[in-house]
Amino acid sequence: MKKNIVILGTQWGDEGKGKIVDFLSSNSSYVVRYHGGNNAGHTLVVNKKKIILHLIPSGLLYPNVIGIISNGVVISPFELIKEIKMLEENGYFINKRLYISPSAPLILPYHIQMDLAREKKLGNYLLGTTGRGIGPAYEDKIARRSLQIGDLKNKKELSRKLEIIVDYYNSQLVSFYKCKPIDYKNILKDLLEITDFIYDMIQDTTNILHQAIKDKKRIIFEGAQGSLLDIDHGTYPYVTSSNSTIGGVMTGTGLGPKNLDYILGVTKAYSTRVGQGPFPTELFNDVDHYLSTTGQEFGSTTGRKRRTGWLDGVALRYAVKINSLSALCITKLDVLDNLKEIKICTSYKNINSLENYNNFSNVNLNNIIPIYEVYPGWMKKTSGIKNIEDLPQEARNYIHHIEKIAKIPVDIISTGPDRLDTILVKKLFF
Ligand code: IMP
Repeated sequence: MKKNIVILGTQWGDEGKGKIVDFLSSNSSYVVRYHGGNNAGHTLVVNKKKIILHLIPSGLLYPNVIGIISNGVVISPFELIKEIKMLEENGYFINKRLYISPSAPLILPYHIQMDLAREKKLGNYLLGTTGRGIGPAYEDKIARRSLQIGDLKNKKELSRKLEIIVDYYNSQLVSFYKCKPIDYKNILKDLLEITDFIYDMIQDTTNILHQAIKDKKRIIFEGAQGSLLDIDHGTYPYVTSSNSTIGGVMTGTGLGPKNLDYILGVTKAYSTRVGQGPFPTELFNDVDHYLSTTGQEFGSTTGRKRRTGWLDGVALRYAVKINSLSALCITKLDVLDNLKEIKICTSYKNINSLENYNNFSNVNLNNIIPIYEVYPGWMKKTSGIKNIEDLPQEARNYIHHIEKIAKIPVDIISTGPDRLDTILVKKLFF
């Protein structure tokens, strides 16, 4: 029996983690978002209705699940409230079952303005951020000048700290980026209007989680983005500003590695990436068109078209290694249903081995030539299938090849966006 499960992405995000978190949450007590912010977009389909969550843990669609947004997350309080209201409009009431760490840094309008101004200034060299202020908010955290959610509880201090930080941002926004100055009083007014709404949600989430472990409750840790976007281990500088790899769970919650029982790496059956940065298996042909249209590969946060490519086995092995993954979940297998042949990159031609993606300055990933293994497609519908034995033989072979490359088992296969389109290869905790 696996109790506490981490679900994280092995690629560049958008692997379909939200659906898997939602699927596994039916049997859990807590679901925790531990890093990132509303740059994430987790798409869930329940009873044929699509719900996109950016900040709120995906498992909260089940009425008995308690959601935690822990200290590692950067929170736009205005987006948080919008999301809570959107859920209420859809019949999901989460008011008394969402707890937020007082130490979570706030994302405020000056972070967003700075994110956008920097991207504009970078011109052709831009990073392709989501424009949600994530980088500047994490910079403030490391520079020890963040306003935190807990600051909302002390109005006088909030006002004093806000004035100082807005002054700091204005000096750069106005003189360097030639933007209009921000008035801290407007932000203060908006913050004071929403404080009552979230006041009771602000709780010591580290203690809540330690208590949950003592009480033998099941916890799911919901990763955002993907391993190759990790600030330390990803394709720097084309990364996000948090630790999307396994260490983020510990620093982002206050739990230790012994509290984690099982680490599931969610991997799309092919690859996608939004934003700039190296992508060795990227496709620029009709298969790209097929994958992006069939897989609806458009960003759920920004609407941008995602770049597409074959599954990169070298990158997958790297993700297995740096995260100590227990097993994989392969998503969007159904998107490959109509392809005559399918490829997986198993090595790169111009380098003997690529050990680390965070250290590719002398190995330019942009110039890498992937070497592929080619497999026959199955040319049959897979969505709705419940047992692995019922998958076409070629699809089972494809899964088996992934297991051989990753050297860990595939425990879950997803063949469509709905909760029902899921094959549980191995009983986890059902
Ligand atoms: P930021 O996190 O908005 O600073 O963006 C940095 C990079 O991470 C950009 O390439 C984004 O497109 C990418 N990114 C951030 N969040 C996600 C996500 O949830 N899915 C996929 N890419 C993401």
